Amino acid sequence: MIRPVLRMGDPRLLQVSRPVTDFANPALARLLADMEETMAYHDGAGLAAPQIGVDLRVVIFGIDANPRYPEAPAVPRTVLINPQLTFPDEEEEEGWEGCLSVPGLRGVVPRRKRLRYAGFDAQGRRFERSVEGFHARVVQHECDHLDGILYPLRMRDFSRFGFVEELFGESAPPEE
Ligand code: NI
Repeated sequence: MIRPVLRMGDPRLLQVSRPVTDFANPALARLLADMEETMAYHDGAGLAAPQIGVDLRVVIFGIDANPRYPEAPAVPRTVLINPQLTFPDEEEEEGWEGCLSVPGLRGVVPRRKRLRYAGFDAQGRRFERSVEGFHARVVQHECDHLDGILYPLRMRDFSRFGFVEELFGESAPPEE
């Protein structure tokens, strides 16, 4: 079921979410199905459970390569539950972000360039990955939602924040 996406200003987006404890609960499978459907409907690159009003540490993300937007290379379709993020070094890079909870806007956000993340898939199997660049950016954006952080709270330069049509025309970075 396509669920309404909460927008910035809704206090539920500022909450710290709870870990999943029961991977066998059918409500988890329903939540994931709803998240997939909602993300696909909005053509998003990612979605976190709090964005549909569920305060659990669950995110999904993934994007196919799109030649119109070479700065957003393919990221594998992933379900990530109870994520743990670690950073192998201090290096940051800037990149444009959008968010389904901040629709129609884009801003430049500094993120760590390299990321190691671990967590559980839909069946409760642990996995981990070392990633960098856009993949690392998407995971940091989604996991921030689990701690009540929206990307504008990470921005340092609001001269690079605005409406997508004015900034990009057709080739806008995806919302997540
Ligand atoms: Ni977002």
